[in-house]
Amino acid sequence: MSSAEHSVFIRAIGVHAPDRKLTNAELSKMVDTSDEWIKTRSGISERRIAAANENPSDMGAKAAAVALGRAGLTAADIDLLIVATMTPDVPFPSTACLLQAKLGLRRDIPCFDISAACSGFVYALQVATDMMRSGRYRRALVIGAEKLSSVVDWTDRTTCVLFGDGAGAVVLETTPTPHVGILGNLLGADGNNAELLHCVAGGSAAPATPDSISAGKHFLRMNGKEVFRHAVRVMAESCERVLAQCNVTSDQVAWFIPHQANIRILEAVASQLNVGMERFPFNLDRYGNTSAASIPLALEEAWREGKIKHGDLVLIVAFGSGLTWGATLLRWHEPSR
Ligand code: ACO
Repeated sequence: MSSAEHSVFIRAIGVHAPDRKLTNAELSKMVDTSDEWIKTRSGISERRIAAANENPSDMGAKAAAVALGRAGLTAADIDLLIVATMTPDVPFPSTACLLQAKLGLRRDIPCFDISAACSGFVYALQVATDMMRSGRYRRALVIGAEKLSSVVDWTDRTTCVLFGDGAGAVVLETTPTPHVGILGNLLGADGNNAELLHCVAGGSAAPATPDSISAGKHFLRMNGKEVFRHAVRVMAESCERVLAQCNVTSDQVAWFIPHQANIRILEAVASQLNVGMERFPFNLDRYGNTSAASIPLALEEAWREGKIKHGDLVLIVAFGSGLTWGATLLRWHEPSR
């Protein structure tokens, strides 16, 4: 088999979530909201909040260390690092470079960030897979790490109840065995809807100034209703398209692992696909929306709890700011514990 035919599979997975839990009851004391409203509209009960000195590179390094430990690998075994984040530690250098140093990865490997918001992990997975299929890289670390608490306006009840912090990492590896691991994937974007979920200041177009900061322009702003509508449509379509690409029906998929944004979005996608919610494991009730970290956090939990088994077909699907979206179908290869 030529290198171009290599399969790429998840050899190990690890996660890290900050210790601090922020409950709906606590949020109700900060803004005009209630546990009942948040649970009914989003399904979220609590979320994790990183400490001031706990950044995406720190959380990502901890998640990666768990994954490497489970795989029985060391930093020297990694040939490629991609970090998906919409909340990088600093505008530059990349969080990947900061993580490379923290993990002690080799200096002869590419390390870079991907900016695709909540679709970031699915984007990074596809980019890593395609680079690995070239035969040039045997093992990659793909990490989703977010500190959304740093871009949330804690006085805006329409957004602050939804988001949380955390990180998840996978070690990808190539194998000459055909039809294992990542079977198919697709990505998409629609920049015409950029303003539905964005941050207007803090970049080069509008650098941070005392005025922009006091006007709260460096916080995340969202048109929740429109994002909701697009999310359901693109997630359901992405699932259908990747299934068609792989010649698989939704009945054959054991588990759907969607980006953990809102339980009502998940229910609507499941209903459009005609799939029962028992095949949509979720943890957004305990973590909220952790953007690029949400899929690895949900995937790791479903695997650790013994839901996902060797040989299962698993479909991961995401949408996010951009707008962006993506889906990946995997034949699960039992990762190292
Ligand atoms: N507590 C109490 N009331 C609230 C709150 C709150 N936290 N937030 C909004 N409300 C009020 C609104 O002000 C509104 O009041 P009004 O009728 O007097 O105007 C009412 O509740 C209803 O608000 P809606 O926005 O219509 O509520 P909706 O049912 O649409 O739910 C929500 C809002 C949860 C934001 C939903 O639209 C949603 O989940 N959208 C998708 C968001 C999402 O997934 N974003 C992540 C994208 S991924 C990424 O890239 C980061």
